[in-house]
Amino acid sequence: MPKPDPAPLDICLLDEIAPNRARGFELPLQSAPGEASEGLPLIIWRHGESVKAFINKCPHLGLPLETFPDKFLSKDGSTLICSAHGARFNADGACTSGPCQGDALTPVDIRLEARGPKRMIVLQRAAGHSEGQETRNSKR
Ligand code: FES
Repeated sequence: MPKPDPAPLDICLLDEIAPNRARGFELPLQSAPGEASEGLPLIIWRHGESVKAFINKCPHLGLPLETFPDKFLSKDGSTLICSAHGARFNADGACTSGPCQGDALTPVDIRLEARGPKRMIVLQRAAGHSEGQETRNSKR
């Protein structure tokens, strides 16, 4: 019998990401009770009043893009940069230069939900996964 889709997961308030900046998150996931938990590393990139999310895994070698916490963007905020070998990604996640040019980051479905006067960034979780209770900032 198929499992119902899990409830959406709150990531953070939109106000917690500065306009035209990006932040990293590690969302706790569990595939099934008793199994080892896994994490979903995300980059949330705020464009004005909208947001996009990608799996934080470079298509070149599968490494996280950042060396330092939340340092994902070029100085002008227009491009995600992989700190390992300099691949650059546009707002759609497409690699525009570097060793994985023509490849792309994996997009993740998120949306904004009104919470009183604020807006929450929410992840629509995939069926078959049951995430933990909280989100954690990826600052390490
Ligand atoms: S791992 Fe990202 S460019 Fe090489």
